[in-house]
Amino acid sequence: LLGLGALGAIGGLGYWLTEGLPQNQGSAFATPLRIPPLLASEIIDGERVFHLSAQAGESELVPGVWFATMGFNGPHLGPTIRAARGEHVRIHVKNELTMATTAHWHGMSLPASQDGTAHQSISPETTWTAAWQIGQPAATLWYHPHPHGQTELQVSRGMAGLFLIDDDAPSGLPSQYGVDDIPLIIQDITVQSGGQRSGTPTTAPIGRIGNTVIANGTHEAHFVASTSLVRLRILNGSAARCYNLELSTGDTFHLVGTDGGLLPAPVPLTSLLLSPAERAEVLVTVSRDADLVLRSVPHDLGMSQADNAISGAGDTLGILRITRAGDASTAKLPASLASAAHPGRAAAVDRHFTLGDTTINGKAMDMSRIDTVIAANSTETWMIENASQRAHNFHIHGTQFVVNAVNGQSPAPQNRGWKDTIFIAPGSTAELTVPFGSFADPSTPYMYHCHMLWHEDQGMMAQYVLTDGEQAAATIHHDDTMH
Ligand code: C2O
Ligand code: CU
Repeated sequence: LLGLGALGAIGGLGYWLTEGLPQNQGSAFATPLRIPPLLASEIIDGERVFHLSAQAGESELVPGVWFATMGFNGPHLGPTIRAARGEHVRIHVKNELTMATTAHWHGMSLPASQDGTAHQSISPETTWTAAWQIGQPAATLWYHPHPHGQTELQVSRGMAGLFLIDDDAPSGLPSQYGVDDIPLIIQDITVQSGGQRSGTPTTAPIGRIGNTVIANGTHEAHFVASTSLVRLRILNGSAARCYNLELSTGDTFHLVGTDGGLLPAPVPLTSLLLSPAERAEVLVTVSRDADLVLRSVPHDLGMSQADNAISGAGDTLGILRITRAGDASTAKLPASLASAAHPGRAAAVDRHFTLGDTTINGKAMDMSRIDTVIAANSTETWMIENASQRAHNFHIHGTQFVVNAVNGQSPAPQNRGWKDTIFIAPGSTAELTVPFGSFADPSTPYMYHCHMLWHEDQGMMAQYVLTDGEQAAATIHHDDTMH
């Protein structure tokens, strides 16, 4: 049996097994990568209509090891929702769990009343319906529950799915879903040595860190590419774990999209840090004799050595093995992409937010308090300062923002596109240009929060409303009795 730090070999390349993985002799990274199905829809009265149902069940996430899991339309994860810019969508969400849940459309520009936060709670045995018009460019968004204080539990058990937006701009990118355009939802779970599952414990200062990584619910996943260029739409769907992604070959890959859409041109990278909720669209070149592993390698989250270790930042974890079969294509890297133009940088900072251990501006979340009132259609400059010793990230609902600067410097290439979530190390600042939507509704708040889900559940979250300028924020309207 291979123990901690035992060196395995794949295609002649070394990788490190983490402690506690059950032995999977002779079949390491041989399980075909599961591809979440595309969710069927029908057009009714000009709307694209989808049905989701939140469910609990059991799933064999590691061969021979069953886990208590949750998902949409199945026991684990959720189907991929796909719709085009300009379309009207209507999504019915039925709660078949025994606890309240919600369905939040992460990264979507839409009215707050359709956003699926704890203000649109869905009690067991009831159905909530969200409807809006997709008004933003092609992007890889996602959906997940957002119930008050229970988000970490539900998401880490598997309630997460991708929401792909298409638009008319020709991208020149691989775009055959499941063939050369591959969804990749990365989560971590806990397997005890001997191959027993266990609930991943929540540990200060970071939350739930599992010891085993799954991709689309597949442990030691293998994808056989039929094309030379593969587009991975990667979502860090973990509660707290950050992944420092690289290819085991050390090869360059190309970042083509971030949270909110495509970049102006592919950006060559050899590693990419992805914190919870962030997405990255990357192109991987798979030559005919390729045998490579997408993996996460040790990194520094800027915390104390002990906290960095608790956060799993010292681990090396294989995620997905990619090999090549077939000669189907010789796709080329596009030279440029259809990217939405960035707003200019405003002169002054409009608002400062200071991140504490589990607070924003010294306060914990209060669902009945509106923290920030913003004029609809305005663009603001937000300065986020992590004044704590803990790693955090920062997510704003209902919009996509541009990162002007991190610690006063131009941001890393991976943060130069449209974003809705940004990692902020202890002692660091991020300055954001945030264009807000047109959906004035003074009684229904959007959230901004840390997307490390234990922090979020602890109350590291606050609320903003959009007003038409004349209105003051009204009393918050809780819409939690729908059927
Ligand atoms: Cu991904 Cu407030 O959420
Ligand atoms: Cu945090």
